[in-house]
Amino acid sequence: MNIVLGISGGIAAYKTPDLVRRLKERGAEVQIVLTASGEEFVTPTALQAVSGRPIRNNLWDKEAEASMSHIELARWAELVLIAPATAEIMSRLAGGGAPDLLSTLCLATEAPIAVAPAMNRVMWANPAVQANRRLLEERGMTILGPDTGSQACGEIGAGRMIEPEAIADAIVGAPGSRRGALAGKTVMVTAGPTREPIDPVRYITNRSSGKMGYAMARAARAHGARAILVSGPVALDPPYGVELHRTETAEQMYAKTHELIGDVDVFIAAAAVSDYRPAGSHVKKIKKTADTMTLELVRSPDILASVAALDPAPFTVGFAAETHEVETYAKAKLDKKRLDMIVANRVGADCGFDFDDNAVTVYWPGGEQAFAEAAKIELAEDLMALIAERYETVREEAEPRLVIVSSIAASKD
Ligand code: C5P
Repeated sequence: MNIVLGISGGIAAYKTPDLVRRLKERGAEVQIVLTASGEEFVTPTALQAVSGRPIRNNLWDKEAEASMSHIELARWAELVLIAPATAEIMSRLAGGGAPDLLSTLCLATEAPIAVAPAMNRVMWANPAVQANRRLLEERGMTILGPDTGSQACGEIGAGRMIEPEAIADAIVGAPGSRRGALAGKTVMVTAGPTREPIDPVRYITNRSSGKMGYAMARAARAHGARAILVSGPVALDPPYGVELHRTETAEQMYAKTHELIGDVDVFIAAAAVSDYRPAGSHVKKIKKTADTMTLELVRSPDILASVAALDPAPFTVGFAAETHEVETYAKAKLDKKRLDMIVANRVGADCGFDFDDNAVTVYWPGGEQAFAEAAKIELAEDLMALIAERYETVREEAEPRLVIVSSIAASKD
């Protein structure tokens, strides 16, 4: 992928040599365009060394224009990424001005544009900046981040540029040969808890954070798939490029899943779906009267089992979160729900839900593989590689063997 990386004048520009390295690791060609204020924070020499191409920093550079004009550069780009993007460059993009090389390129290119804002939290919250952000999004540009956290100015809040690794992942996926193993496929992931209303102010839910499911959707995209995420209520931003559908109750999650399942090749149920929901609905808040009260619950639909029972069914992967006898229960679920795979993990006070790390064992008919404790993001990458491999195997086994019958015409002469 040919990427024009525009670097504007924010302190986060010091991270751009690392960003260039990570983009190149993923096979991208990177042409850097540095604004005058960007040059105050990072040197052209460093950027030229890591990108392996001469830096472009001047619209009026006759020599550079002679070898590749800014219009040719705009055509060469398959993606324009601006990182860090200051309030100023966002304003220029929104206003359509072209006083320098980077903004001119953005007007002249037909390539998609992604922007990773980086600025002080008060600047980011400023209505003018937010209006520009909205405008850029409405015009189809991708806004990556910003992150929340400590800032170079000593303040804490939203405005940090997202880390180079996350930008690179969002743009070109994870490094290595595994990328593309699911190209052309659609992967659907359910994630997070469900919320079953008791009355208008109360509900039943569970400790699921959605982190594993979101990491799986991100990994699916990084492996080249179209990724659909059907999510319960969580406090996570959707991974870049993933189609997010928000749901609340098990019934809504069931309905959304079945609405979209037609195109799905691989279905991964990582959601912690409430097994039961309150029977009947209370329109008004329940008042406390007696010392005890009984809540009648009814079973929720089993989304995973219903997908596995479709004919034809996608390749189905379940999760089994258990506090004890993990293997026995996981294998029983694999069998009972007629799944292609199940990812089993122990949950308890020290592991599982809402932790960033996880250790799992995957079972499938006739095989198993253990994965050591790792960050959910990394674990999801490895799980997705195994899923892609098993998916291919199962598909090949299911396909009728092609029998080539060669007929030799006997000559009558
Ligand atoms: O039966 P159990 O809830 O333990 O099975 C867990 C697996 O089934 C998970 O993959 C979960 O996402 C899925 N599931 C579901 N719908 C339900 C209950 C569980 O999709 N109602």
